[in-house]
Formats: sequence, structure tokens, C-alpha cells
Amino acid sequence: MSTHLISPHGGTLVNRVVTGEASHAFRAFAEGLPRLSLDAFTLSDLDLLAVGAYSPLTGFMGHQDYESVLHTMRLADGTAWPLPIVLRVTEETWRALGADLGDTVALATPGGRPIGLLEVRDVFAVDPDVEAICVFGTADRQHPGVARLYRWGRVAIGGPIWLFDGPQIVPFPHYHLEPAQTRRAFAERGWRRVVAFQTRNPIHRAHEHLMRTALEVVDGLLVHPLVGETKADDVPAWVRLRSYERLIETYFPKDRVMLSVFPAAMRYAGPREAVFHALVRKNYGCSHFIVGRDHAGVGGYYGPYEAHHVFERFRHEELGMTLLFFENAFYCHRCGSMVTVKTCPHDERHHVRLSGTNVRRMLAAGQHPPGEILREEVASVLIESYHVS
Ligand code: ADX
Repeated sequence: MSTHLISPHGGTLVNRVVTGEASHAFRAFAEGLPRLSLDAFTLSDLDLLAVGAYSPLTGFMGHQDYESVLHTMRLADGTAWPLPIVLRVTEETWRALGADLGDTVALATPGGRPIGLLEVRDVFAVDPDVEAICVFGTADRQHPGVARLYRWGRVAIGGPIWLFDGPQIVPFPHYHLEPAQTRRAFAERGWRRVVAFQTRNPIHRAHEHLMRTALEVVDGLLVHPLVGETKADDVPAWVRLRSYERLIETYFPKDRVMLSVFPAAMRYAGPREAVFHALVRKNYGCSHFIVGRDHAGVGGYYGPYEAHHVFERFRHEELGMTLLFFENAFYCHRCGSMVTVKTCPHDERHHVRLSGTNVRRMLAAGQHPPGEILREEVASVLIESYHVS
């Protein structure tokens, strides 16, 4: 189908999924190979590489790309790319694997079932001290992304991958669409300019304001919640999904909004992750991407608008998409609407503000926060979830 959708990052949508007859041959070949079991985080990267969500990447990064990404937010060939996508193992695992450069190894589920192949093109040491500072801007192990980095092995195996059984991480099959499928769905709907909204939280009124405002200037909205690994105290994905369904069915026109999940793990890398979230959504066919206050942030590690400023390090053609930046949004009684400091002249007395901690406290106690903070329908889903968990 010929479409007028935005081109994938790097120009071509990568497809490393092997299907049909070929998948049987790959499976048989994998049986005789050294086998490497992946954890859930790496498995989700494998899935996303294979379906082209990480285009132009065709596999786990080698040393040159890794170094270049850490220090310049670009691949070795200059293509914009902000986060390392790395297969990490311990020294012992690497040695026990008995593989060498040029060998092909089988990639397996945590239970040991082979699902993919990796051609070992590069093996190199990663230094978490350096990576933490470059990617997260801190080496503080209280930071969840940094903590994860130090838990991992320090040997990285780079090379192209193939997936003959997968994707494996499909927590919500009903809402699972790969980049080729969202692209097809947009084309069928006649959407050309599509804005993506990344979230890892239940949608509150500020989120809704961003989505609604963005939708005014494009053809369609892809609500694309991240449903891979998140911190233990983030709201579970199944609860969030129910809240998204309720919000969309009540407050958005069905023919302008699509809900689908993004099965990646959360990195909590703030500004760099904002660039990553944007480029990946371009691969899903989205021409526009929303970046609000403290995007992909955690604790006080990033300034509220660092994830806006990071985009100044790229030329528009390098990213090839439109970023929609939003200031902190809140309700103003005097304006009678959601606003930001860019659009509201009134002082604090007219503004409704409540910290996330207080909202959670109210919900846990079965109370509805003010409707100017959270829609009643969303609050109900969250209150119910506190009583079943
Ligand atoms: S994120 O980690 O996925 O970015 P979250 O689900 O909280 O977290 O936010 C989704 C998007 O909404 C991000 O772009 C974030 O910057 C933006 N956002 C969240 N709260 C606000 C707010 N009050 N005002 C403006 N933007 C916001």
C-alpha cells in the first residue's frame, strides 16, 4: 500500500523476523549452537529490534556505535541515536558460551528456548561508571536506570540478530501492533500526520490537555503507553490500560485516536530517553511526538525542561519529525480550562495543583481527587485497583 506516512528513521523499516519455512530452518540450525538466555529487558530489545521499532539498528550495538552513542548521541555513521542498545553478559557467561568472533549463537528465552540468532561481530567491555554519567547524567545508584546498569554484566556482544520465534514480550495481545501494523492502520484511516503520546502513568488532566491540544493540529493520535519493565512503584500496566480505555471511550472521538502498547522497558534516562521515545515512534509511523514536563524523568535527576533542550543538539533533518513541546499544564479556575504559564495570566490562587504523592494517597484511601486533576472515570479505575491489589 502506498502511503504518505513519515519515513522510518534511517529510511527503511528494518525487519529481522523470520517466518514460514525459513523459521523452521533457523530453529533447526539454532539447536546445535551455543545458547544464550536473555532477561526480560534484553528480550524486549530483541523483539523491538526485530520488528523495526529501533530502525535503523539491525542488531545489538558493536563497540564503535556504543562509544559514539554515549559521547555524541549518534551512531558511528552519524545517524541520531541517543541510547545504547546492548546485549550484556558477565565474563563467566561469555566464557562459558564458548563462542568467538564470527560465530553465530542462539538467543533464548529466560527458560532456555531458542528464539533467535546473533552473529557475533564484536565483543567489548562496558564501563558502568562512564555509561551512567553519559546516559543518565548521574552515577547515583538510587537512580533506577543506573542501579540496573550496575547489576548487569560488563561484557557486551554486538552483531546482527534474527528472530524466528516471536515477538516474545506481548503482554496485551489485543493492543499489540508492530511498526508495520501501526503504519498500515494509519494508512487505512487516511491519517498522514500522526502524533504519538508516550506515557507510563494513568492519564491525568495535564496529559489529556497535551493530547487534545496536539490532536488539533494533526490527523490522528496514537496513545502509546510503555508497558515493558517499569519501577515497582509505577502503576501496573494492566491498570493503566483500563484507565486509558475509559478515558478514550468517554472523552475522545474514536475515529481520531488509536490505543496500542509499546512493549519496551523504561530506562528513566530523561532527556536521552525523550529522543529515543520520539525516534522509535517515528518508526511506528508518527510524524509528531509530545514532550512535556520532565519526560521520562525520575526523582529530581533532570530539570523539568531538559528533555526539551536536548533536541537542540540535533538539526531538524536529522530527526525528520516534529516535536511538540509542552510546559507544565494545570487547571486554572479563572480561565476555566487547562493552561500553562504560556497561556494563563492568573496567579497561583486560581490554579489547582496537587502533588503526585497526594493524589496517590487520596486514591489509596478510596477518595476521588478533584476532577481538575484526574477524570472521575480514571480515578474509579485506580481506586478499584487499590482494592484488588
Ligand atoms: S513518561 O516517563 O512516560 O514521560 P508520564 O507518563 O508521566 O511519564 O508522562 C507522559 C508525557 O506527559 C511526557 O511527555 C511528560 O513530559 C508529560 N507530562 C506529564 N505530566 C505533565 C504536566 N503536568 N504538564 C506537562 N506535561 C506533562
